Amino acid sequence: MDCLNPALDLLLNRRSCHQLSRPAPSDNDLALILQAALRVPDFQRLRPFRFLVARDEGLDRLGLAMQRAALAAEKPEKVVARASQMPHRAPLVIVVVASPKPSDKVSVFDQQLCAASTVLTMQLAARALNYGGIWRSGWVMYDRGFHRELGLTDSEQIVGLLYLGTPTGDEEPASSTENIHDFMTWL
Ligand SMILES: Cc1cc2nc3c(=O)[nH]c(=O)nc-3n(C[C@H](O)[C@H](O)[C@H](O)COP(=O)(O)O)c2cc1C
Repeated sequence: MDCLNPALDLLLNRRSCHQLSRPAPSDNDLALILQAALRVPDFQRLRPFRFLVARDEGLDRLGLAMQRAALAAEKPEKVVARASQMPHRAPLVIVVVASPKPSDKVSVFDQQLCAASTVLTMQLAARALNYGGIWRSGWVMYDRGFHRELGLTDSEQIVGLLYLGTPTGDEEPASSTENIHDFMTWL
């Protein structure tokens, strides 16, 4: 969809990239991406999120944690064999953790939504810096053994694994054939 406003252009034409290679976001760009995450709406500013960032050998460590979790969960052989390579689908992976804080006012679900909104925010910030990214879940997002492998507490929950890097190949244009009226109802 053509749009002259750069912010709207980013929102209207954002695409996920499955194929990502080096370079990963530089340290400066990663700092900007994380700064953008810190600007998500956050009820009572509880900061109910944290980010586990992997690149280089960190990707190996993350892959081994996935493999140990796959073994512990008795996943099929194929899944175990693939697990250690999963993070290597991009040069940088951010595991986004919802880390709810005690609150009488803000529900755990609100806090998880807040954390989840950092994933898209970071994907968009990365896109603005000319990187590509994809928000993934997969079995690891629900596997408590994997959570423990990463040192998460019982109250914490992974809400996304954001894979970031440089897109390889041509990006398909975002589809604009859907009709907003199929999704909205005036009350
Ligand atoms: C919570 C969540 C989890 C997702 N998990 C996966 C996943 O594990 N694997 C995958 O290929 N896409 C996953 N997706 C979808 C991709 O992020 C992406 O939206 C999809 O490939 C469509 O591409 P597009 O964003 O360019 O429309 C997930 C999306 C969300 C919101």
